[in-house]
Amino acid sequence: MEYAGKTALITGASSGIGLAYAHEFARRGSNLILVARRQDALDALASEITGKTGRTVTTIALDLASLDAGQKLVGLIAEKGLKVDFLINNAGFGTNARFAEEDRSKIQSEIVLNIATLVDLTAAYLPHLLQQNFGAVVNIASTASYQPVPGMAVYAATKSFVRSFTSAVWGEVADSNVRVLSVSPGATKTEFFDVAGAKPAGALAPVENVVKTTFKALDARKSRPSVIDGGANRVLAVFSTILPKRIIIKAVAKMFLPKAK
Ligand SMILES: NC(=O)c1ccc[n+]([C@@H]2O[C@H](COP(=O)([O-])OP(=O)(O)OC[C@H]3O[C@@H](n4cnc5c(N)ncnc54)[C@H](OP(=O)(O)O)[C@@H]3O)[C@@H](O)[C@H]2O)c1
Repeated sequence: MEYAGKTALITGASSGIGLAYAHEFARRGSNLILVARRQDALDALASEITGKTGRTVTTIALDLASLDAGQKLVGLIAEKGLKVDFLINNAGFGTNARFAEEDRSKIQSEIVLNIATLVDLTAAYLPHLLQQNFGAVVNIASTASYQPVPGMAVYAATKSFVRSFTSAVWGEVADSNVRVLSVSPGATKTEFFDVAGAKPAGALAPVENVVKTTFKALDARKSRPSVIDGGANRVLAVFSTILPKRIIIKAVAKMFLPKAK
């Protein structure tokens, strides 16, 4: 995969995994379009990256958790005369509560951001990537996509959607030079758990691991639909698929299901 002189659109670039992707794409020679709600964080990152690498970095502060957000973003990017070669659908968040106690408007935003905007941006940019027969769509799923998660029922389901959707689209474009890939991080050191109000069940991996896993898959000669970050996470995902669901679900509930209020 050639990165120099290309443009990467990264959603959720103001912190965590998205911020780490921004550094790595710039290091590999790509110009960047960075999107999140926090303009100050995006601008600070942009000047750091431009100072270090000389890349062109465009920042767009936008709330992507609304049904017209994808259309707005695509419009803003077109107005600036920018084209997109790599789409990194990374923005997302989780909520941790018993489902009957979830905040209804929060889970609506969670579904729109984690699913609807990701699908809409993929729909907007994939035809152009196929036309130029080059580029990639990277959709961030999660190890939560491999089994239902009591206490994070909506979040895990959104990530299952992301992985299923991405694999199906991969199956439609696998003969082209366009890579379509879902990346499933396990617990990773970012703002994620604070935002979700959840406690991580174990040690947190550094964001750099997720970035390394992603580029290894993108640069591999053989295209694949999905990748899991971390050896232990890959083993757990296999167990989650082969063990009886009632055993897996009860074990996961012990980790993430808060006590009833
Ligand atoms: N960390 C983990 O353990 C873990 C594990 C598996 C999967 N993931 C996934 O990895 C992705 C990145 O998360 P992270 O771990 O890096 O967490 P993070 O540090 O909380 O980053 C989330 C990013 O998404 C942006 N974002 C959130 N809501 C948004 C909205 N409404 N509109 C636009 N941007 C929004 C945030 O920026 P603003 O707040 O500035 O908008 C931030 O840049 C997510 O899809 C997450 O589900 C994380």
